[in-house]
Amino acid sequence: MKSDKPFVHLDHVKFSYYSSQGEVEALRDIDFSVEKGSFTAIVGPSGCGKSTILSLISGLLKPTGGYITFYSEEFAPPKIGYMLQHDHLLEWRDVYKNILLGLEIKKQKTPQNLELIDSLLEKYNLSDVKHQKPSQLSGGMRQRIALIRTLALRPDLLLLDEPFSALDYQTRLSVSKDVYDIIKSEEKTAILVTHDISEAAAMADTVVLLTKPPCRVKDIIPIEFEKHGISRDEVRNSKLFQQYFDKIWKELQNENTNQ
Ligand SMILES: Nc1ncnc2c1ncn2[C@@H]1O[C@H](COP(=O)(O)OP(=O)(O)OP(=O)(O)O)[C@@H](O)[C@H]1O
Ligand SMILES: [Mg+2]
Repeated sequence: MKSDKPFVHLDHVKFSYYSSQGEVEALRDIDFSVEKGSFTAIVGPSGCGKSTILSLISGLLKPTGGYITFYSEEFAPPKIGYMLQHDHLLEWRDVYKNILLGLEIKKQKTPQNLELIDSLLEKYNLSDVKHQKPSQLSGGMRQRIALIRTLALRPDLLLLDEPFSALDYQTRLSVSKDVYDIIKSEEKTAILVTHDISEAAAMADTVVLLTKPPCRVKDIIPIEFEKHGISRDEVRNSKLFQQYFDKIWKELQNENTNQ
């Protein structure tokens, strides 16, 4: 039965960094929910606190105000997987051993987990590069491997912090599509931080738009291609895509010019 509770709820979250220079108020009031199985994109001006929000959700940082609540049928905090701009693949290990690394560290190299890795490599046509070194792969291929490495740990929630921003435009389009397909087909919940409005509109079910610092939620925009009968494979050619793009762009422009 579907729960009426969201998977993650940020309830008036505040966060300040404290250093020898004093307090930096990063987040003033962050309030949004993420449904299980959904894809949320967070966009906002540079330095507004996007990465800080992911660090709070992952538990690396604790809110200085407000609450972050996880609702799960297992009554346990969700397992979180991170994917970053830099893939952090180790050059001296081949692809397969890179994917194994997390399981080795967590002492979870069970037959079931090894089987999962093999099936993911097979399903997403990556078995052929299993014994190659990361340096032999393209940037796009490296990010696909980084995603498989993250999925090997069976995360319930994926946090993606600008994972495609180091890729050239063409590669970015195809890798973001592949990553989207993999995340949806594995039925994961994902939160993507991106500077790229078209990426947010093409991938997300919901776009959370942030203000400049100190950061608040400016708008929450549902992205409803499916409701209009448009498949995710063809969104970029649709009028609706252009409408979403314009709306997000305008709101961000206002934010950048309202000093
Ligand atoms: N460790 C830290 N100590 C002090 N201030 C920090 C620290 N990390 C981030 N900040 C400040 O907090 C604010 C939010 O930073 P954050 O990295 O979350 O923003 P962002 O939206 O992810 O930025 P970008 O668009 O550059 O990726 C910024 O003003 C930043 O300078
Ligand atoms: Mg950031």
